[in-house]
Amino acid sequence: MTGHTPIAVLFVCLGNICRSPSAHGVFREAVARAGWADRVHIESAGTGDWHIGKPPDRRATAAAAARGIDLSDLRAQQVQATDFERFDYVLAMDADNLADLEQMANTRGKVRARIALFSTFSARYRGEAVPDPYFGGEQGFERVLDMIEDASAGLLEEIRTRLD
Ligand code: 4NP
Repeated sequence: MTGHTPIAVLFVCLGNICRSPSAHGVFREAVARAGWADRVHIESAGTGDWHIGKPPDRRATAAAAARGIDLSDLRAQQVQATDFERFDYVLAMDADNLADLEQMANTRGKVRARIALFSTFSARYRGEAVPDPYFGGEQGFERVLDMIEDASAGLLEEIRTRLD
């Protein structure tokens, strides 16, 4: 299916400096290892606007780097109303993000995206929120990565069925 429009995935959290860039980096690595880098388009965004243009939180960058994941090129952006048409999957880190996304999508005429919790695709953490690590310690960032790695494996399988 080379030449077809890539499958597009948007990871969403509140600030787009901790959880969703971590998901972006982890899933980007998984997709690259699968050899699908040109068939899956990945972005991340925040429901909030405070950090637009900023790189990920240095604690997120360091925790990811320790697992071989590079977040250094990522810059925060805010979710746009058009994202519900641009992306096939819009994946929220927690229930607040999901509620905000559903409210935004409800005011749109055209919604193509499947809007869901990222943990929908997780075997170990299905249905759980990826907890906001911003105001906590380093351990929170390890927990975020543990959850994201598991959900990424499930999302990769989901996408595999669409690429075959
Ligand atoms: P994130 O974490 O949603 O995982 O990027 C946060 C980052 C910043 C803030 C909250 C959460 N903040 O309030 O600035």
